[in-house]
Amino acid sequence: MSADRVPVHASVLPAETLELLDPRPGETWVDCTVGGGGHTRLIAERVGPTGRVIGLDQDPTMLALARPRVAGPRDGTEGPVELVHANFDQLAEVLAARGLAQVDGVFADLGFSSDQLAEAARGLSFREDGPLDMRLDPTAGATAADVVNTMSEPALADVFWEYGEERHSRRVAKRIVERRQTQPFATTGDLANVVRSCVPRSGGIDPATRVFQALRIAVNDELGALDRLLAALPAVVKPGGRAGIISFHSLEDRRAKHAFRTAGVWRLVNKKPVEAGAEEIARNPRARSAKLRVAVKI
Ligand SMILES: C[S@@+](CC[C@H](N)C(=O)[O-])C[C@H]1O[C@@H](n2cnc3c(N)ncnc32)[C@H](O)[C@@H]1O
Repeated sequence: MSADRVPVHASVLPAETLELLDPRPGETWVDCTVGGGGHTRLIAERVGPTGRVIGLDQDPTMLALARPRVAGPRDGTEGPVELVHANFDQLAEVLAARGLAQVDGVFADLGFSSDQLAEAARGLSFREDGPLDMRLDPTAGATAADVVNTMSEPALADVFWEYGEERHSRRVAKRIVERRQTQPFATTGDLANVVRSCVPRSGGIDPATRVFQALRIAVNDELGALDRLLAALPAVVKPGGRAGIISFHSLEDRRAKHAFRTAGVWRLVNKKPVEAGAEEIARNPRARSAKLRVAVKI
């Protein structure tokens, strides 16, 4: 990613997020998913120069891209932003390292950004041919190629079924295991074509969509990290503080909904998740599946 790029990612539900999270002057907030820095900047504007924002992202290239927008020279009315390369499942440790036990608010806008998707070399997109990588943190862990070339056939089928709700999960896993015996997978285009050869097209959706989603979730342990973040929140958010999660599929939303229903810990700000209106979806199709849940720590 070249240094002079600016983020193309359009933040979802920006006004609704600010309204429900209600960051106030002087508060300390954590944005767990800086991405292009859109939400981070909005929160920094609200907490003002007497407040503080700690921004995390597991992808150092996103932090570099967001830095000029959130941490560069500004007009002095925003709170200082510190960007930290970390997985949000390390939230308590990141705060402890800064002498903080609790903060006024924590926000996470899950998944990946349009900037990461557009970068073929990240291997997140089946539309662009690139290396079969898919790691959101390119400095750690197994790649999607490692997974499809080594995981057992039943385990692959489980991943496609559980994380992608792919009805043809067993057939795809079988085909992948057959193919890798003669030629291991190395590129997104190759995998997408093999999936397309054994999953019938339905509606306007590319048959590779669900398998790619499932692999991305598995490679990045996305649900495990979300579970660990949600488990950490009650201890790190002050009484009266707020926590907000934007999710993009039911596996994530179900977890946020369940966590915020814990009696005696949270009071839901919105009983039903907030979704984008027609005007935002027309401008930003990615907002179509976004669901925002916000809760106040009791
Ligand atoms: C949807 S984007 C965030 C967009 C951002 N809110 C904005 O307004 O530009 C999600 C970001 O979260 C990061 N991310 C996803 N899972 C993460 C995790 N477990 N820990 C830290 N960062 C994560 C991704 O690398 C990506 O940059």
